[in-house]
Amino acid sequence: MGASNLQLILDEIVEEMRHVTERGDVADYIPPLACISPQKFGIAVATIDGACHIAGDACEPFSIQSVSKVFSLTAALDAVGEDLWDRIGVEPSGSPFNSIVQLESEAGIPRNPFINAGAIVVADVLLGGRHPDAAMGALLKFVQSLADDDTIYVDHAVAAAEKETGWRNAALANYMRDFGNIMHDPADTLSLYFQQCSLALSCEQLAKAGRFLITDGVDPQTGYRVVTPGRARRINALMLTCGHYDGSGEFAFRVGLPGKSGVGGGILAIAPGIASIAVWSPGLNTRGNSKLGTYALDRLTSRVDWSIFEPPI
Ligand code: DON
Repeated sequence: MGASNLQLILDEIVEEMRHVTERGDVADYIPPLACISPQKFGIAVATIDGACHIAGDACEPFSIQSVSKVFSLTAALDAVGEDLWDRIGVEPSGSPFNSIVQLESEAGIPRNPFINAGAIVVADVLLGGRHPDAAMGALLKFVQSLADDDTIYVDHAVAAAEKETGWRNAALANYMRDFGNIMHDPADTLSLYFQQCSLALSCEQLAKAGRFLITDGVDPQTGYRVVTPGRARRINALMLTCGHYDGSGEFAFRVGLPGKSGVGGGILAIAPGIASIAVWSPGLNTRGNSKLGTYALDRLTSRVDWSIFEPPI
């Protein structure tokens, strides 16, 4: 794929998306997210050769919300290794992102690290006895280093709004604490979780931060090994099977790549060996995943023929 071709395709996708009128509903349960215009649309593709192609609103930071779970999982695996899987499963839940139903019959062990319950356990691991702000500082530095951009920040207004409205997340944390799967004061674990969800990145920054998942765990820009090849593959496997909650099957069916969504309307998708792609459109489909984001990734992967199911030639 020539660079100019790819840029042309991205520009055409942006133009096509501009005219779509059915854009989904912007998440309104976190008040600051409700104010974001559904007209926004950005896309960035960071390729293995170090280039990053951008189009539309790709330089505007947005709340990455659950896309942050990819980075917190990566950091938690670095902190405690495979022991993480004693506290979290690796199965798709088939349930919405904030579901509590499976926790009772499964003794407080969340199905996977991407549903809220699993990501809250990941936050509990990352806390490691520290103050939530200190743990968030370390996670922020990690994301900044992946994107090679120290302007990435936590939007504290979003984090405060999440704290005020996050009763269901508080229920999940308290319930898992009762099962012995949350080790800290649930308020501290939730503070870290709300802050990580409030990370603000542009599509360009997000695509760059995902580059280590293109290359079996090595940052293609610096040659620095972020995770082992096995771990990079497992993170991608979880993104494919669990990254869109009860919409994961449809995303794999339509896009054919590992992907992780957030209620801010962002999606990070990985074409292994080829590119890290970030797309942002704030309107969500009925399963809480970006409506136009999914549509745009479907268009892009069809046009450039990227799929993990494509046979090697
Ligand atoms: O826990 C929440 O409600 C949010 N901070 C994150 C949810 C989210 O992004 C779910 N993904 N689509």
